[in-house]
Amino acid sequence: MKKLEGFRCVECAAQFSLAETKSICPRCEGNLSVVYDYKTLRKRLSRRSLKADPERSLWRYLELLPLEGRLGVAPVDVGWTPLYRARKLGAGLGLKKLYLKDDGRNPSASFKDRASAVVAARAVQTGERIVAGASTGNAAASLACMMAASACRPVLFVPRTAPAAKLAQILVYGAVVLSVDGDYDEAFDLCRKACDEFGWYNRSTGYNPFTREGKKTCAFELCEQLDWEVPDLVFVPVGDGNIISGVWKGFTDFHALGLIDKLPRLVAVQAEGSAAIARALKDGGGIRPARGKTVADSISVSLPRDGTAAMQAVRESRGYAVTVCDREILAAVPAVARGAGVFAEPAAAAAYAGLAKCAAAGRVRQNDSTVILITGSGLKDVQSALRASDRPRRVACDMAAVRRLVAREGSSWTGRGE
Ligand SMILES: Cc1ncc(COP(=O)(O)O)c(C=O)c1O
Ligand SMILES: [Zn+2]
Repeated sequence: MKKLEGFRCVECAAQFSLAETKSICPRCEGNLSVVYDYKTLRKRLSRRSLKADPERSLWRYLELLPLEGRLGVAPVDVGWTPLYRARKLGAGLGLKKLYLKDDGRNPSASFKDRASAVVAARAVQTGERIVAGASTGNAAASLACMMAASACRPVLFVPRTAPAAKLAQILVYGAVVLSVDGDYDEAFDLCRKACDEFGWYNRSTGYNPFTREGKKTCAFELCEQLDWEVPDLVFVPVGDGNIISGVWKGFTDFHALGLIDKLPRLVAVQAEGSAAIARALKDGGGIRPARGKTVADSISVSLPRDGTAAMQAVRESRGYAVTVCDREILAAVPAVARGAGVFAEPAAAAAYAGLAKCAAAGRVRQNDSTVILITGSGLKDVQSALRASDRPRRVACDMAAVRRLVAREGSSWTGRGE
């Protein structure tokens, strides 16, 4: 059965077959969206068939992915991450139905594993030998993880400033790392040139049309995990805009298949210092490069590479964008950890910072079913977490010292309001 119809350009709407391009629109260089034969797929997928499927990873949606079978699938489980009802965190914001989707629980500890899993398998299935990619760190770590045991080899371009934990992951998984003397945007352009010159397959976000396909599986999971009660709002941290456009693709795929009859509003959360998409939505114009500087390294992007599709996702879903400053982002790291027990990296915690701001401004109603996507683990960037936390209490290794400490401040160690 042929389930893939081809590509449609998100800029000029031209259609292409899969054989015509591997990356962007041959006509206008816009990003491409994968088009499925929904009529055929409707007959093959139902709520019941999904319920009966024992697979607990994103491969439960193989029918809706651009792959033929499992050749090239990494030997680690991606997706089907936990969705938590965050009662305490929600109560702090006056919200009754707050959920946290913890994608830090993926094998390389970020949402990017969804995209890398699909692209890595597709690379094997289409006979690629080298897969390159540019990344602030997470996409590279995830591609290195997904290809660790693959016949293909990853070559990854990361800015020299990438947090040490992300670099360590990439190196440990055995990828070739090019540590670029430049920022993410420069690494992106360099990677593209290298792919053109050496014929490597390019996984970069907002260039490879299949990353969005992997990312859409998060929306599929949300529908199932919420027992088909589509949420009212989904807060997504946004840099290049590929996660939010992927999440939207997931909801619209399920809608086209008749599995859901409602769509959520998507809220794009950007850092004030890196807010090209939020600004374009506000001004009503196209995407123009912004400054690209924030403590949340994963969303530090000057020129969003999937900006048009991200704006379409926000507009079509009747959502909106919100910006948060670095102080709000850093404060959100301990807030999420203490309110829900989930340790998020700054970019991920930004989604909560955005929600807190919108809730305070009355843009979220107390009964709105609201999801925040925690897109990466806090262990990715412990320096920022330490900046946002209290100091440990230093104590000599004897009980007399502990007694003095307890006498001095022990009374304040209880009563956190539970
Ligand atoms: C943890 C985390 N959150 C959010 C994002 C933003 O995703 P996108 O660049 O697709 O908007 C990224 C991208 O690197 C990320 O790693
Ligand atoms: Zn085009």
